[in-house]
Amino acid sequence: MINSLRGMNDIMSEDYERFTYFINTATKIAQNYGFHFIETPLLEETALFKRSVGESSDIVGKEMYQFIDKGENDVCLRPEGTAGVVRAFIQRKLDRAGGLHRFFYHGAMFRYERPQKGRLRQFHQFGVESFGEASVYEDATMIMMVADILDACGIGYRLQLNSLGDHNCMPQYRENLVGYVKNIADQVCTDCVRRIDTNPIRVLDCKNENCQSLYKDAPKLIDNLCGECDEDFATLQKILDDAGIKYEIDTNLVRGLDYYSKTAFEFVSDNIGSQSAIAGGGRYDKLVEFLDGRATPAVGFAMGIERLMELIVMPETKREGYYIGAMDEEALPLVIQLAQKKRKTDKTTLDYKAKNLKNHLKAADKMNAKYCCIIGEDELRSETIWIKDLENKTDEKIASVDF
Ligand code: HAM
Repeated sequence: MINSLRGMNDIMSEDYERFTYFINTATKIAQNYGFHFIETPLLEETALFKRSVGESSDIVGKEMYQFIDKGENDVCLRPEGTAGVVRAFIQRKLDRAGGLHRFFYHGAMFRYERPQKGRLRQFHQFGVESFGEASVYEDATMIMMVADILDACGIGYRLQLNSLGDHNCMPQYRENLVGYVKNIADQVCTDCVRRIDTNPIRVLDCKNENCQSLYKDAPKLIDNLCGECDEDFATLQKILDDAGIKYEIDTNLVRGLDYYSKTAFEFVSDNIGSQSAIAGGGRYDKLVEFLDGRATPAVGFAMGIERLMELIVMPETKREGYYIGAMDEEALPLVIQLAQKKRKTDKTTLDYKAKNLKNHLKAADKMNAKYCCIIGEDELRSETIWIKDLENKTDEKIASVDF
């Protein structure tokens, strides 16, 4: 027997209902915020992710589904959605058009991680990217949108917030941090020693407990922000306070992708185990330029749909549509005909086998149909159809031409 690959799941039945319910809810909210759908390819040039997510990140360094295709191109399955949207934005010359461009997307992402609960190798994200707005109000809007989506799905959360500074304050901070870590280099883990040269900021979210205790007194990003970053971070907090959105400032929140500057945020849930991040995002003002576009401020987020599916409170399912059945073989052609007519306007299921009334009613109930419609011997003769409303428990007979 051939099974699906490790960390790659089928989405079906009840899961599929949750999956589509989430996408429909999030889509409606993104559209209310003025965002437009974008679909980008699952496969892109490997260089796109190397240059955006960053060579020193775990995603690019260890987790890419990368291969050489038949035309000798170095390609990989997308590990995240932002890079592809930025590429499309530049390729369509929207960076040169000016103005605001706001997109949302959903689809499969691929990371060769060690699978565990909530961590898959093929997973789905719902994400948004906003281009052309430098104001920190847009950062706040992103956070409000995630909060609205989570609220609409009945999902509780904790919001963690940080500022990563910009090209004015980050280099000096990085130097201070490197100095601090170099002084204790003989006590930190080997990963952190490597990070000193590759991506020093990532030491801050090292999972090693010993390292974490050693970094307690390390210089903090938010104590070293330049005037503009400091002011923006204060404004962001004020907007969130006014909107009644609670947050915690986590000075170690650096995110696993290299393109961020200024605002970085993560929404976590305490109800799904160790893989608790349900959404993450932030500002990435340098990425468009870095991918050869015209400098354009940008901010966005993505939500992990599989993690959210565990948490969604689904609305009560209502009985819907018609179930049609025959009690005699003879009536089956008519049943098929009537079902075909009804499907033009309503959800309609039918049974190809003749059954007694009790079994039909049971089947209709299982399908969660609102109406159970039966053609028995009498009905066939009188060209009528018996209809039971399974919600109101009433029944009637109508002429089959009126069905
Ligand atoms: P990210 O934090 O890497 O950000 O991923 C966003 C969300 O995807 C996570 O919070 C998590 O819910 C989900 N996720 C990530 N990896 C897995 C996995 N292996 N299995 C299941 N779910 C997972 C990004 O991808 C950025 N592109 C977000 C962004 C958009 N920033 C700006 N714009």
